[in-house]
Amino acid sequence: MAAPNIDTIVSLSKRRGFVYPSSELYGGLGSAWDYGPLGVELYNNVKQAWWRWMVHERDDIEGIDSSIVLNRLVWKYSGHEDTFSDPLVDCRECNTRLRADKLEAGKCPNCGSANLTDPRPFNLMFQTHVGATAEDDPAALVYLRPETAQGIFINFLNVLTTSRRKLPFGIAQIGKSFRNEVTPGNFIFRTREFEQMEMEYFVRPGDDERAHEEWIENCQQWFVTLGISPDNMRLYEQPKEELAHYAKRTVDIHYRFFPERDDDEKQWDELMGIANRTDFDLRTHSKKPENAEGKRLNPDSTEDLSYFDEATKERFYPFVIEPAAGVNRTVLALLMDAYSEKTNDKGETRVILKLRPSMAPIKAAILPLAKNKPEIVGMAKAIKRSLQPKLRAVYDDTGGIGKLYARQDEIGTPFCVTVDHQSLEDEAVTVRDRDTWEQERVKVADLPEHLLTRLGS
Ligand code: GAP
Repeated sequence: MAAPNIDTIVSLSKRRGFVYPSSELYGGLGSAWDYGPLGVELYNNVKQAWWRWMVHERDDIEGIDSSIVLNRLVWKYSGHEDTFSDPLVDCRECNTRLRADKLEAGKCPNCGSANLTDPRPFNLMFQTHVGATAEDDPAALVYLRPETAQGIFINFLNVLTTSRRKLPFGIAQIGKSFRNEVTPGNFIFRTREFEQMEMEYFVRPGDDERAHEEWIENCQQWFVTLGISPDNMRLYEQPKEELAHYAKRTVDIHYRFFPERDDDEKQWDELMGIANRTDFDLRTHSKKPENAEGKRLNPDSTEDLSYFDEATKERFYPFVIEPAAGVNRTVLALLMDAYSEKTNDKGETRVILKLRPSMAPIKAAILPLAKNKPEIVGMAKAIKRSLQPKLRAVYDDTGGIGKLYARQDEIGTPFCVTVDHQSLEDEAVTVRDRDTWEQERVKVADLPEHLLTRLGS
């Protein structure tokens, strides 16, 4: 079972502290969300898992962390100043601003009118100014990056020379990106500030199509290891007219974000994109390429980002395969996929978040069976403290045991550890499994190893 719709996750998130509407006490800010105590743990688990998989466990990928605000020329030559826009229309009846490419039957979704302006491009990059200059000084204009990828391309030569890499190799980065989306919405699915996990994989021209296929397969598999059901994912081949200006081919991994929609086609939307960016970016940021008249295409760049192959003595611009995923959309897909309900013997229905242990915000909850017994409370708190350096553990005594179990199930805690009267005698505790509700007795001395082994499974 997965969540029946995003609204179910919105309400769980607010109720339990995964995600809150941002700036709520001032009326909110359209489509901005804040991650709460549980949300930030899940969010960090996603990023750490991606970094481990993408950088630490591979032999051919380095990581970087570049600036959010870059020289404006980066966005001129990347093509974003000219082309990173959505077609905008205004409804003449109700003044709503809409994306022309997302309209149904050419009508305003707010009032149903077809009386719309002609589409015009609306650039999605947020502008700001650097330094203590006049606000309208064009020399001070900069953008908040709309993708992390450009920070990688402009550091290609730095990483190549300092790491002494040979093709094929990749550079990975996780970080915030900003887009002034015309129609943000659907909770954390589309926001104006979000985080991306991107990797640019540099290959010889001619090796790009095979590498592209490999990364499509790898990325799908990664989401499965994270716990997302293959039934709720599909591949989507972007048609030519949808391709970004730099892409030769892009395949998206879609997730079933909207299962409540009758039309199956409308249930799916993008979780990740895997693009073949050709040599567009390295070439465009290089000082050397010239047009037919011998004029430099980029008179501002001070470097040539071509690659010299020692073996073949050839110089060329590598092609790039780019797996690009959103952290926020991954968190949403994980929450939706893990959502389930279970009815107990008394006929009460409970929410159980079946997150993989590696993704669960809290790995173990230590619960005393009698909170008015100082020896039991003391033992439970000592157990929690002993676990803290090894895994995320919490202590809770604010309810009866049934309620405490239910609370932990709802946030996906894989193990509850109960300390009872018997524990004082036999130095053992009860470990209760979130998914099976089965219980087993474990010696306190063996508990850290026992939990770590089961968390890894
Ligand atoms: N560098 C390529 C690139 O940025 P993209 O498909 O525009 O490609 C990659 O973005 C991923 O970033 C998407 O698959 C999605 O997960 C995430 N993303 C893009 N725009 C987003 C938004 N407004 N809100 C949340 N996530 C977004």
